[in-house]
Amino acid sequence: MIYTELPVPTIKADEVLVQVKALSVNPVDVQTHGGTGISGRLKDQFPIILGWDISGVITAVGEAVKEFKVGDEVFGMVNFPGHGKAYAEYVAAPAAHLALKPTNVSHEAAAATTLAALTAYQALLQQGKLTQGQKVLITAAAGGVGHFAVQIAKHIGAHVIGTSSAANKDYVFSIGADEHIDYNTQQEDKVVNDADLVMDNVRSQDFAATIKTVKNGGTYIKIPNGVPDEMKQLAAERGINAFFYLVQSSGADMKVLADLLGKGILQPNLNLYDFSQMELAHEQQLKGRTRGKIVVSIKM
Ligand SMILES: NC(=O)c1ccc[n+]([C@@H]2O[C@H](COP(=O)([O-])OP(=O)(O)OC[C@H]3O[C@@H](n4cnc5c(N)ncnc54)[C@H](OP(=O)(O)O)[C@@H]3O)[C@@H](O)[C@H]2O)c1
Repeated sequence: MIYTELPVPTIKADEVLVQVKALSVNPVDVQTHGGTGISGRLKDQFPIILGWDISGVITAVGEAVKEFKVGDEVFGMVNFPGHGKAYAEYVAAPAAHLALKPTNVSHEAAAATTLAALTAYQALLQQGKLTQGQKVLITAAAGGVGHFAVQIAKHIGAHVIGTSSAANKDYVFSIGADEHIDYNTQQEDKVVNDADLVMDNVRSQDFAATIKTVKNGGTYIKIPNGVPDEMKQLAAERGINAFFYLVQSSGADMKVLADLLGKGILQPNLNLYDFSQMELAHEQQLKGRTRGKIVVSIKM
């Protein structure tokens, strides 16, 4: 990863130019940097500018953009799963991927509430169709995706079970979980076997065990990687809909998150870095132990 000076990007008719105040780091950033993640989709564009999550101020608008004007403070996940180019002082972003930042929320908190929060929202409510009173198991509940998932599921009135290490138990309860499973000392399927929905945010999970936590006819959404065919078969035998879901940029969904963020219903937990500390931010991400989000401020 290197720092370099590039021209300020030019914008297309449907884009805005954002002067970035804060950005956030995700596992897919370090994965893509390491040659996995979505590097396959971007290999024709190497060297790339990593990153997708921004919050900042609009300094120019394309002629087709009606929704935003120069000076608006906006946030969003830019062009995922494509080339977001978000680790930069200026980012050209499709207007359709952004929402107005709530005025009572910092750029850092807004930048945090992007890819991970969209993943939680889209997976739980759009794909998983979670409703009030249903039981949902959320693995890695203290992580970037998980801490938003717990807060969203709690907000709609679901019964929330979250997994983490003992160190994050109190935190997982504090953001709204009704039950907690310590994955080091408890086996998930010994604690729950009737979840309407399981949102599995852990990469190397024992699928055969985790699927036992879903009730017959329920839903299992794998977030880190795909569901192997033999596992889909195992799920199908019990009428379980098991699938992988990949988050998509959406300004409409960002507006919903902006509303929740502005009302204090979503409260991102921030681990803050400066733009000169991108290597350190990546080192933290690689450890896989972050509570909430890694956020990088850009001061100009
Ligand atoms: N498909 C998609 O669209 C999509 C979108 C976003 C993310 N993802 C993927 O989803 C995964 C999670 O992303 P993220 O942003 O939430 O990552 P993250 O913030 O780095 O997750 C860190 C958290 O994982 C927890 N953790 C680690 N091992 C665990 C285990 N065995 N059981 C329970 N919790 C565990 C840690 O809690 P403790 O310290 O308490 O262990 C820590 O709080 C990543 O693999 C990422 O690539 C996919």
